Amino acid sequence: MNIRPVRVDDLPGMQACNLQNLPENYTMKYYLYHAMTWPSLSYVAEDHKGRIVGYILAKMDEDGAEDAEPHGHVTSISILRSYRRLGLAKKLMVQSQEAMAAVYRASFVSLHVRKSNRAALGLYRDTLGFTVQDIEKKYYADGEDAYAMQLSLKP
Ligand SMILES: CC(C)(COP(=O)(O)OP(=O)(O)OC[C@H]1O[C@@H](n2cnc3c(N)ncnc32)[C@H](O)[C@@H]1OP(=O)(O)O)[C@@H](O)C(=O)NCCC(=O)NCCS
Repeated sequence: MNIRPVRVDDLPGMQACNLQNLPENYTMKYYLYHAMTWPSLSYVAEDHKGRIVGYILAKMDEDGAEDAEPHGHVTSISILRSYRRLGLAKKLMVQSQEAMAAVYRASFVSLHVRKSNRAALGLYRDTLGFTVQDIEKKYYADGEDAYAMQLSLKP
């Protein structure tokens, strides 16, 4: 298994992986926007034949006030079912977080996760040390609440 920064020709593989794993889907334009704007923040995991088996799609936050501390945001992460529990998601998260801090001086990273997503909560809270900042009611299209989580990237 190889983890490397995203290339534009990976985007259809990433999108296919996303469609298999999550109900939150994005247009190809949105993948391209991430890859072109913050090329060091998104990564793919590929197998020995170069097939995309997982990805992280991440960005710098653009919505805050101009004087707000810069921070990164994980738009989406997923791993194909038969490649889970191998440490791939943890590696993708750590690579992206390191680049957020080193390249963009991000002071923290944020993300949203479904309250019912045990696997992702285990990854974010127990393995990586994220904490819950807020509960966003009915954040998802089907009405489920989200935990808004953050992790400091300050040394
Ligand atoms: C969440 C997801 C990305 C985790 O990917 P993964 O590569 O299997 O995760 P890792 O192997 O890096 O796991 C790291 C840690 O996360 C936690 N974790 C991962 N899967 C877990 C599960 N099913 N139950 C509980 N904890 C889990 C564990 O603490 C694990 O460490 P351990 O294996 O040493 O116990 C994967 O399950 C997935 O793609 N799910 C569907 C898409 C999704 O929910 N994405 C997140 C949206 S917010």
